[in-house]
Amino acid sequence: MRGFGSDNHSGVHPEILQALSGANIDHAPSYGTDPLTEKCQEMFKTFFGKTCEAYFVFNGTASNVLSLKAMMKSHESCLVSDISHMNLDECGAPEFFAGKLIPVKSVEGKLTLPELEKHLIRLGDQHYTQPRVVSLTQPTEVGTLYSLEEIKTISTWAKKHNLLVHMDGARFTNAVYKLNCSMQAMTTDLGIDVLSFGGTKNGLMFGEAVVILNPALGKDFKYIRKQAAQLPSKTRFIAAQFLAFFSNELYLKIAKHSCDMAQYFFETLSGKLKINYPVQSNALFAVIPQPLVKKLKQKYFFYVWNETIFECRLMTSWDTQKSDIEGFCQALDEIL
Ligand SMILES: Cc1ncc(COP(=O)(O)O)c(C=O)c1O
Repeated sequence: MRGFGSDNHSGVHPEILQALSGANIDHAPSYGTDPLTEKCQEMFKTFFGKTCEAYFVFNGTASNVLSLKAMMKSHESCLVSDISHMNLDECGAPEFFAGKLIPVKSVEGKLTLPELEKHLIRLGDQHYTQPRVVSLTQPTEVGTLYSLEEIKTISTWAKKHNLLVHMDGARFTNAVYKLNCSMQAMTTDLGIDVLSFGGTKNGLMFGEAVVILNPALGKDFKYIRKQAAQLPSKTRFIAAQFLAFFSNELYLKIAKHSCDMAQYFFETLSGKLKINYPVQSNALFAVIPQPLVKKLKQKYFFYVWNETIFECRLMTSWDTQKSDIEGFCQALDEIL
């Protein structure tokens, strides 16, 4: 089975699988005290700056929720895009564990200052949750990117209003590749306080990292993670995957491949289907007429994202082949 359902549908990159096997030798101390985890922590520091702390967790939802938990109290709130994963697809976990989310109208998936401003209200009012965090997703849920300048603008606005800034980077390395900048340039240098750093969607078997860039927020994080049942005991198996991901710039090769395939998909499809957002990472949102959807999905799986307009998400990943894309387009032509 091949398809464009999600970068979660693809398997594990062979170099990552090999790293898992490589870590599977003898014994090692548990709960983050093993040599591979220590080496990996140092690696994160080379990417994000000496004072950052990276904490492994099992999945992206935990990464987001625990990031928020470290940033806000339960009577505080977090401003997020209305279409963000945190707002729509985490089953209320951020609100259950951390505090209220305030959905903000987005433009092509992105937050803008005029819309954010509208929610900076009732400050000091004991009846209203107090805004404390702004969370932006990079790349966004519709595959678009904030430029460095746009991130800087939001972060500067946030600091001016005493808000902290979180970045949901489930596909962060795709953004790093596309914006051709360092990890630090997109985060630490722009005032991001905490980053959810994705692994699973980028070729790992499992594992994400909460990267705390603002040292003032890290004090209690080890307790927060453990209390939320997200402290892996055999941490070395997440560390080994991230070490392989970072070695020889594998993360960039994976990001380049996924994003270049999306671009190729866009070019191959253009003229055939309406594409709804700029293709800036590894996702395309194509409007596929309803009668075609079922037949096409039988050959190459994908999700209908917005059922009212039959907007469908086509997602590429580290293992997408040109032949998958050409096969999809051929199937489309045949059905048409
Ligand atoms: C942008 C974004 N953030 C967070 C997540 C959550 O990841 P998980 O499903 O591993 O909890 C996802 C998953 O699709 C996502 O797309």
